Amino acid sequence: MKFFVDTADVEAIAELNDYGMVDGVTTNPSIIMKSGRDIMEVTKEICDLVDGPVSAEVVSMDFETMLAEGRKLAEIAENICVKVPLTWAGLQTCKALSDSGTKVNVTLCFSANQALIAAKAGASFISPFVGRLDDINIDGMELIEDIRSIYDNYDFNTEILVASIRTVNHMKEAAIIGADVATAPPAVIKKLAQHPLTDAGLAAFEADWAKTGQKIL
Ligand code: G3P
Repeated sequence: MKFFVDTADVEAIAELNDYGMVDGVTTNPSIIMKSGRDIMEVTKEICDLVDGPVSAEVVSMDFETMLAEGRKLAEIAENICVKVPLTWAGLQTCKALSDSGTKVNVTLCFSANQALIAAKAGASFISPFVGRLDDINIDGMELIEDIRSIYDNYDFNTEILVASIRTVNHMKEAAIIGADVATAPPAVIKKLAQHPLTDAGLAAFEADWAKTGQKIL
């Protein structure tokens, strides 16, 4: 499973990149707002740092403006993936951009049928939001299972990019189901290494090693 980082925090991306944990980056208008940065500037910086796809989202509602925004965002760098919402205007933009060779991530997906039509519109990625479904008492991971079955039934090339990940369990479940990508905030990715038995074991090794009086270096 590929790991994308769901942030525009360049320092956090650089740190995780040093561990080999960054296969791509996703942003959205809320993330750009939180960064306090100019969208074009910060997106360029991220694209320079990361080899994989960097999602940058359009903000208009109509097809013509969305397409123009998508084309402008795509000019930032080779690895830009234009993010469009799951509306008919978004799908029309997805088809036009995909046909001209630009990768598209269709976002705000909350149903299997939405994922089906995004694949037919040529999306490179579909972003189902599991956390926001969990928030309203609908099992987000069931949606990932359904999309996996549908895409496998018809050999769609669209990659399932699990989004709105809030917990380490979301990461595990996405990997068990066989999602292609999980995008998570840096804090969730950092938590993947944590285990109390690792901490306890390490403390015991450290104490016993001190008793030997030895040194390796
Ligand atoms: O990738 C989409 C993500 O940013 C949404 O997450 O936590 O706002 O539902 P959240």
